[in-house]
Amino acid sequence: MTTLTPPVEIPEEGRRIAFVGKGGTGKSTIIAHMLKHWNDVGVDASAMDADDPGDDEKGSLLNWSDEADLGGPIYPAPNRAKVRERLIAYTPKGGVMAVDTGAWVKRAGNMHFAVLSGVDLVVLTLPPTPMELERAGSVLAALDHLEEVGAHSPRLVIALTLTNPSAKAADETDKDLTDAGFKVLRTRIPRSDAQDGYGQAYGKEPRLVPGSPMALLSEELLREAVALA
Ligand SMILES: Nc1ncnc2c1ncn2[C@@H]1O[C@H](COP(=O)(O)OP(=O)(O)OP(=O)(O)O)[C@@H](O)[C@H]1O
Ligand SMILES: [Mg+2]
Repeated sequence: MTTLTPPVEIPEEGRRIAFVGKGGTGKSTIIAHMLKHWNDVGVDASAMDADDPGDDEKGSLLNWSDEADLGGPIYPAPNRAKVRERLIAYTPKGGVMAVDTGAWVKRAGNMHFAVLSGVDLVVLTLPPTPMELERAGSVLAALDHLEEVGAHSPRLVIALTLTNPSAKAADETDKDLTDAGFKVLRTRIPRSDAQDGYGQAYGKEPRLVPGSPMALLSEELLREAVALA
């Protein structure tokens, strides 16, 4: 069943998209849904789980893929010195490689730097609260650092997550970030704790609901990925 808009064409070399953000901002949940949606519309998609090994908290993408079919293979991250080369090798031809990362605390760790220097696009997952906004600064600083040392520096886009549709916070954060020159994605992922909501998705095959925020995000990210030079 393909009810999603047929996606745009990804170049032969493929695209790599990393998801970064504070713990619990929805990175792994989003990636699981993206993979399923992308594969469903015929875009080959895989993922790498670069969440710090040893955290072994429940909810890693790799553990999730043991429980349910996510539509494409999930690779564990190798030693960080090999992350970039492995990311390139595992990116499907004409497809997408999504990279999950461990919680971004105050600044980027070495694994974060390895991932950032190996992807084309970075999606910062950001709940719209003033406190969360401060963290956007440290992600930018990490990208600036890569540029300064002459390393590859990916494009950054921001996804507002865990939003409350009836509150104004997301609109205000969106405007502040946009005014500051950031690219904020049109699609927001609402907090959804209902029985079949995103908060209950872990360990199950993600539900593909046409027109849902996850479906719209999967399309918007493909357009962003294609638009990269
Ligand atoms: N849109 C949502 N609405 C409600 N709950 C959500 C939503 N997205 C994720 N959750 C829940 O919030 C928790 C954290 O989500 P998730 O594991 O995807 O975040 P994460 O950014 O990958 O966290 P970490 O950095 O710790 O790996 C999980 O229990 C998940 O089920
Ligand atoms: Mg996670």
